[in-house]
Amino acid sequence: MTVWGASDVDAAAERGATLRVSPRDVVTPLAHERARELGVVIAAADAADRPAPAPSPSSRPPSSGTTDRRAPTRSSSTTAGVRGNGSGPSVPSPATPPAPASAAGTVREMRPPSPALFRRGAPLPAALRVPSGSTGRVVIVGAGHVGMIAAMRLADADVFDEVVLVDIDEGRAAGIALDLQHTAPLSDFATRVRGVGTVAEAGAADYVVITAGRPRQPGMTRADLVSTNAEIVGDLARQVAATSPQAVIVVVTNPLDEMSQHAWTSSGFPSGRVLGMAGVLDTARFQALVALEDDGRARSVEAIALGSHGEEMVIPLSRATRGGRPLSDQLAPARVNAVVDRARGSGAEVVGLLRSGSAFMAPGTSAARMVLAMVRESDEVMSVAVLADGTYGIRDVYLGLPVRLGGQGLREIVEIPLAPNELAALREAGDRIRERLGSMPKAS
Ligand code: 2OP
Repeated sequence: MTVWGASDVDAAAERGATLRVSPRDVVTPLAHERARELGVVIAAADAADRPAPAPSPSSRPPSSGTTDRRAPTRSSSTTAGVRGNGSGPSVPSPATPPAPASAAGTVREMRPPSPALFRRGAPLPAALRVPSGSTGRVVIVGAGHVGMIAAMRLADADVFDEVVLVDIDEGRAAGIALDLQHTAPLSDFATRVRGVGTVAEAGAADYVVITAGRPRQPGMTRADLVSTNAEIVGDLARQVAATSPQAVIVVVTNPLDEMSQHAWTSSGFPSGRVLGMAGVLDTARFQALVALEDDGRARSVEAIALGSHGEEMVIPLSRATRGGRPLSDQLAPARVNAVVDRARGSGAEVVGLLRSGSAFMAPGTSAARMVLAMVRESDEVMSVAVLADGTYGIRDVYLGLPVRLGGQGLREIVEIPLAPNELAALREAGDRIRERLGSMPKAS
C-alpha cells in the first residue's frame, strides 16, 4: 500500500503527468487539495494496462537537477483537474462521496489510516512559492553566525528556489551551505542552498541580506564599528547593485541605522529597496522579556520598537498591550521601564555573556522574518529602518519606523498615534543618527 501525499502531487504536476494510484493505496486529503490547486488528475491505476504508479518519493531517483522548479508544466491531460482524463475513472475529490471500496479498478478516497499521515503544511510547489517573474533567489552576504541562522530560517521556510551564502571565506560559505542542505529531509524543504566566495557568483537575487562586517566585542559600542563596516557595506552595496539591480537589500551590519543609509547611498537604489533590520529584533526582545515577567507567551505582547538600534530606541508604551490589554495596567511602571532598558541593552548583554562575537539567533531570525514578510506580501506592520519621508516630522535619515513591506521592499510608512513624549523621543533619535552620519565616510 502506498500513501500518496501532497509532494507526490507536486512531482506529478512538475512532470505534467497523471498521478496513478492502486486501489489499495491511500491518497491523503492534502494530496486531493494539492491536486485541485494544480489541476493534477489522480487516476486509478489498473496494473494490467496502465504503467505502474510513480515510485513513492523516497524511492524516486534524484531529479536531474535541471528540473525547472518554476510553475509545474501542465499537459492537456491535467488541465481537466481532478476528473476523468479519458484514461479511466479518476479519484473522486473529497467534495464528492468516495466511490465504494468494492468498485474494481476505482480508487476510493481513503481516509489516512491515522491522523499522523495527514500532514498540514506540505511543501508548496514552486508555482506557489515565489512570485512569478522572480529570480527565486535570496542571497545572504556574510556566512557568520547571523548569516547562518538567516539562511537556515529561509531554507526552512521553503519559499525560495535557492538560498545562497556569500563569504570571503568561500570554503566556510560552501561548507555551511552543504551542511544546511543536508537538513532538507529533516525540515522538509525543497530549497537549494549554495555557498560562494563573491556576490557576483551568487547570481541575481530578489533579496540580498548584508550581514558582513565586524561584530561588536565586549566594551565596544555599535558606533565603534562605523569606519570599518562602512567600507565593507559600501563596497558590498555596489556589488549588489551590479549583480542584482532589482533586489531589495536588507542591512544587518552595525551600526545599523548608519549602515542602512550608507548602503542606500552606495547602491544607488531607490530608498524603498534598502531596509535596515533592527526594529524587528528590538521588538522581539521586548516581547520576549515582558513574557518572562510571568508565564505568558511572547506573541501575546503587542509592542513596537522604533528609533535607533541603540541608545535612542523608542518603545511607545502607550501602544504596548499584553493579551489585548494595556501593559501599563498589568505591570508597574518601574517594571515596564526596566524591561525597556533591558531590551535596549540586550545586544550588549549577549555580547558580554558570549565574550566573543554578538547575538545571532534573534538577529538572523529577524532578518529572515523581514524577507518572508516581503516575499509573502504579509502586509503586517513591523518596525524597519527606512529613510524617513516627513512622517512623524522626521525626514532624510534612516531610523526604525512602523512600515508595511511588499514584494519590492517598502510599501508605506505607517503613522501610528504616539504620545507627545514618544514622538519627541523619536524625533530626537532621528537627530542623533543624523549627527552620527555627519562623521561617517561619504559613499565613494
Ligand atoms: C544586536 O543587537 C547584533 O545588533 C545586533 O545583538
